[in-house]
Amino acid sequence: MTKLTLGIETSCDETGVAVTSGRRVLSNVVTSSLHLHKKYGGVVPEIASRYHVEYIVEVVKEALKAAGKNISDIELVAVTNGPGLVGALLTGISFAKALSYGRRIPVIGVNHVLAHLYSAFLNEGEVPRFPFVGLVVSGGHTALFHCKDVDRKSLLGQTQDDAVGEAYDKVAKILGLGYPGGPIVERTARMSNGSSGINFPKSYLGKDSLDFSFSGIKTAVLYYVRESPVKSVPDVCHAFQEAVLDVLVEKTIAACARTKSASVVVGGGVAANKRLRSKLIEAGSFNGFKVFFPEFRYCLDNGAMIGVMGGELYKRGHRSDLHLNAEPNLKA
Ligand code: KG4
Ligand code: ZN
Repeated sequence: MTKLTLGIETSCDETGVAVTSGRRVLSNVVTSSLHLHKKYGGVVPEIASRYHVEYIVEVVKEALKAAGKNISDIELVAVTNGPGLVGALLTGISFAKALSYGRRIPVIGVNHVLAHLYSAFLNEGEVPRFPFVGLVVSGGHTALFHCKDVDRKSLLGQTQDDAVGEAYDKVAKILGLGYPGGPIVERTARMSNGSSGINFPKSYLGKDSLDFSFSGIKTAVLYYVRESPVKSVPDVCHAFQEAVLDVLVEKTIAACARTKSASVVVGGGVAANKRLRSKLIEAGSFNGFKVFFPEFRYCLDNGAMIGVMGGELYKRGHRSDLHLNAEPNLKA
């Protein structure tokens, strides 16, 4: 039942295509329009869409070549159908449907947010087993899930405003550090010894809530920087990072306790953050859960996670058809 799958990801600024077979990644090619968005301090949807249109055929060809396969070998096409930027999504979906129609192979739509959790299934060595608590931390999403199978999960909590990666990006912008902010803020925070005494507010949204809110801390950073201009940027980055990561870690501990889970799977761009990794691993050893992270190359948007999740959904009988459409606000 394992199908040679072409996984296609075009929900934001990465054009990602992979050839997968079960959990095996035969190739994973990603190109990004990131450099074109830098001067705007965020992704410009029109530019992202045009970039996908221009590069998707080339990226598919490269992925096939790197896998040593021909287009006629592909048995299933999996594509992100949401959430994301509508024009960007439509590029990948249109390509996938044309391929499905032309080659008479099945097509399957994949939820981008959930697919981030399947990046950790690409690891060599030990991979997660169901059930687990899934923590998605990216530029567009922050959510906790209880995952019982690829197609059986419940949402435990999600952000009510900004995503955590978005908060990193906005704080970097306030501090004039550049875009995307996550990696720069993490690097800059490392230059602080953490003894500045700066405390930014941690938002918990009530004692039992597993939802998140990160817009308040972003505003707190803005006011703090505005009020007295002479500041140590590393100390501000450090205080911001500790506050947001503490909330993520504490809510993950609570999610494990509530669902009696012994495994946590983390996915999304912020999963690349080394400080988050060490804090979660420490919390896991203290609270009795094991934490699985994707390899760094699979943290950001990529076609491999789409191919793997699409293949697993297909095995469980899920199918899409040529009515598959972009769903910018697709719920997980
Ligand atoms: O998963 P992703 O590629 O895109 C979405 O699906 O949203 O994640 C991109 C986000 C950006 O906000 C970026 O700043 C953040 O991930 N990010 C990080 C790190 N690397 C990327 N945030 C914190 N620390 C990092 N090391
Ligand atoms: Zn993503």
